[in-house]
Amino acid sequence: MLMKTFIFLFFFSLITSSVSKNTIKDHIERGSSLSVEDDSHVIMSLDKSFTCGFYSFQSNAYWFAIWYTNSKDRTVVWTANRNTPVNGRGSKLRLRKTGAMVLTDVDGTIVWETNPTSTDVSIAVLLNTGNLVLKNQKGEIFWQTFDHPTDTLLPSQILKKSKNLISALRSESFESGYFGLSFNYINVLTLVYDGPEISSVYWPSPDPGFNVWAFGRTAYNSSRIAYFNDLGIFNASDRMSFTATDLGLGIRRRLTLDYDGNLRLYSLNESSGLWSISWQALAQPCNVHGICGRNGICIHGDKPECSCPPGYELSDPTDLSHGCKPSFNQTCDKSTRFKFLPLPYTDYYGYDLNFSSPISFEACRDICLKDCRCEAFSYRLTGEGVCFAKSALFNGYHYPQILGTMYFKVPVGMESQKYASILTGSNTTCAAVMLMVGSPFMYESAKKKVKWVYLYSFASAIGVLEALVILLGWWLFYGKNELLANLEDGYRMISTQFRGFSYKELSRATQNFKVEIGRGGSGVVYKGVLEDERVVAVKRLGNVSEGGEFWAEVSTIGKINHMNLVRMWGFCSQVQHKLLVYEYVENLSLDKRLFSSNFLQWKERFEVAIGIAKGLAYLHHECLEWVIHCDVKPENILLDGAFQPKIADFGLAKLSQRSGQNTEFTKIRGTKGYMAPEWAHSLPITAKVDVYSYGVVVLELLKGIRLSNIIVHGEGKDEESELMRFVRVTKKEIEEEKELWIEEVIDPRLGGLFSRRQAVKLAELGHSCVEEDRNRRPTMDSVVQLLIDCETE
Ligand SMILES: *[C@@H]1O[C@H](CO)[C@@H](O)[C@H](O)[C@H]1NC(C)=O
Ligand SMILES: *[C@@H]1O[C@H](CO)[C@@H](O)[C@H](O)[C@H]1NC(C)=O
Ligand SMILES: *[C@@H]1O[C@H](CO)[C@@H](O)[C@H](O)[C@H]1NC(C)=O
Ligand SMILES: *[C@@H]1O[C@H](CO)[C@@H](O)[C@H](O)[C@H]1NC(C)=O
Ligand SMILES: *[C@@H]1O[C@H](CO)[C@@H](O)[C@H](O)[C@H]1NC(C)=O
Ligand SMILES: *[C@@H]1O[C@H](CO)[C@@H](O)[C@H](O)[C@H]1NC(C)=O
Ligand SMILES: *[C@@H]1O[C@H](CO)[C@@H](O)[C@H](O)[C@H]1NC(C)=O
Repeated sequence: MLMKTFIFLFFFSLITSSVSKNTIKDHIERGSSLSVEDDSHVIMSLDKSFTCGFYSFQSNAYWFAIWYTNSKDRTVVWTANRNTPVNGRGSKLRLRKTGAMVLTDVDGTIVWETNPTSTDVSIAVLLNTGNLVLKNQKGEIFWQTFDHPTDTLLPSQILKKSKNLISALRSESFESGYFGLSFNYINVLTLVYDGPEISSVYWPSPDPGFNVWAFGRTAYNSSRIAYFNDLGIFNASDRMSFTATDLGLGIRRRLTLDYDGNLRLYSLNESSGLWSISWQALAQPCNVHGICGRNGICIHGDKPECSCPPGYELSDPTDLSHGCKPSFNQTCDKSTRFKFLPLPYTDYYGYDLNFSSPISFEACRDICLKDCRCEAFSYRLTGEGVCFAKSALFNGYHYPQILGTMYFKVPVGMESQKYASILTGSNTTCAAVMLMVGSPFMYESAKKKVKWVYLYSFASAIGVLEALVILLGWWLFYGKNELLANLEDGYRMISTQFRGFSYKELSRATQNFKVEIGRGGSGVVYKGVLEDERVVAVKRLGNVSEGGEFWAEVSTIGKINHMNLVRMWGFCSQVQHKLLVYEYVENLSLDKRLFSSNFLQWKERFEVAIGIAKGLAYLHHECLEWVIHCDVKPENILLDGAFQPKIADFGLAKLSQRSGQNTEFTKIRGTKGYMAPEWAHSLPITAKVDVYSYGVVVLELLKGIRLSNIIVHGEGKDEESELMRFVRVTKKEIEEEKELWIEEVIDPRLGGLFSRRQAVKLAELGHSCVEEDRNRRPTMDSVVQLLIDCETE
């Protein structure tokens, strides 16, 4: 009987535990945690409208966030670590016994935590309002996300004194930008651009002709609170108020300060999952200050665009918000003679050096000519002439209703062909893509990790005993799992031995750069032996960036560690010499083992295909820096003694493109025949360019010849690449349902010794990777999965 009860209880508990796994909880208990790998990596409010947990944009970077469960793009309303994403594996959110909610990265560093703490806290609950609260048994709230808004306010959430909404830096990003919504010191709710160079209020309008008091607002209520209710009515203590166009209950809304600086109220259509705008602060997007940076001009349109005035060029071609810089030297030298280049329908807010009216055009021009500080002037002839001389050019805007013309002061002899080119940023290169993702906070985390190295080597120097005491303490404090994660990372840090070398050292190692083993677009490679007898390949870079960036970028590459990627051991950065030190890979590159008589057999070819896929998947999806290779080809795939492929030259797109002048920026990286069509069409470059090149390599593995060559058909027909012909022929054979099609297309040198199933899979995969439409190409992650599934026969 007892036994029966026991068995019953056992099964009962099995059933209940499996049920509880499927139902998502709305809370985290004290002492428990969430992590990306867990089944239960999210919690959900009771009515399921909000979800809270780890969030990512198709990469290995995660944010601890709260989002709308039912919106199509999982709209995020709050993030804990907006400027410091954490790794997917090993990151954890824990409600500690101390009552603090703590987010830790894979190496155990605390990325974010709640403050203050109370051991009274028993639970973290996600409420139906979207508020995540820490409370005790009695229901008293100790901390809530509603007190720490990011860029969004939810119904009933109160924006309080000294709190603000901060926009994201760009779309599809959480990183803090420069626009803010808060009460200013005279108690008025304002939108402010607070950038690196200037700060400027743009709502309520700073125009002298616009009187905020006339709209009934007041500066004499210092309670400084603002909120909107479930009906869609917004009220602030300065009597600012508005109502949603779809006023009424039962609609989910959010008030978001968007990355373009506009404050918008959105309503969710629950059936389509899409948002519509039910109110916005500024009707004219170009009235937002700061969006186009110094000297930049906002061109009004459906979507505002940034442009440079005549005589100016982009400061940073990859980021329009950095504005424009003069294409000439600004000087106060008396001998320089100036002229003015006009741009109609344009004006800049603020920074007036001199205002005069009535005045003639010539007199206005003379004011600007005589004052060295004057960079441009605005003149309009409405009745009597109106003249503004500008000492700085910020908040520029251009639309046909504007009466004035701007006249830009440039030296005589300056060519004026660079007139207001509309800059839509179509020349995105690999370097540009990586610039955007490798933002400064990434480097900051790199710096932190360097400190870890010192810490660990220090501990080992003091002695084992000391270390054990520390470890024991950790064990007790953090629990076992976190300790292991810490240890693993520490171990990896010590064993990488990534370091700087002196030029002398490398010159000795390579016997004064004697043995050349390769030559590529980015530099020449020499063989060498270090003092500790490690054999290395030393790459001498031709054209690279100057200064501190080199170290930051190289150390980013140095942290990448995967068996299918050539390891970087160090670098040398002296004024004239930029060298990279790599592990030496014993065997030849893939082209030498594929297009020669010394060719690989089927088994090796298939392993090579899997290995390259794993290496690329790691670069695209796993490492925090999201590296796009941009030059995948057989020459860049090295084979070790066991024919494991190792990809070389990754991360270099970034180093070599940033060279000295910006002229190199538009240079396309890659090798003809392996380059995706996006390059030719000036489309944004994504990881899918590597997928395309990978597809070409896969088909070459299959066919055993170079497919990247161009062939010309007989009677003066169009030229066609070998690849296109191959794809066309195989597709036709498949369509005609020829039984032995694969036998007809595969490398005849294999003498029929190959796995049919694997060959068919590779052919199909190759076809989908070289699709013209990049959205139809698979991701490297899914390629790896596909190949592993048919690895064993
Ligand atoms: C809130 O706004 C509404 C609509 O604009 C207005 O009628 C109402 O008086 C405001 N309430 C308060 C308390 O200011
Ligand atoms: C200040 O604003 C708040 C919130 O709108 C309101 O409740 C309060 O009565 C106002 N105080 C005064 C003195 O007007
Ligand atoms: C919501 O979306 C559906 C489907 O797109 C559409 O038919 C419907 O009219 C929308 N409702 C509202 C209120 O806009
Ligand atoms: C600006 O001045 C620097 C040094 O004074 C000179 O090297 C450079 O060529 C000048 N540039 C232009 C566009 O005149
Ligand atoms: C503007 O310049 C004119 C001519 O130089 C001068 O007379 C006037 O005082 C200036 N006005 C201001 C506000 O500086
Ligand atoms: C460096 O740049 C110069 C000029 O742009 C070019 O001629 C040279 O070939 C480049 N060197 C390398 C190694 O790429
Ligand atoms: C490549 O590897 C094979 C197998 O280990 C070995 O026999 C051969 O000598 C290597 N070739 C080179 C050029 O190192």
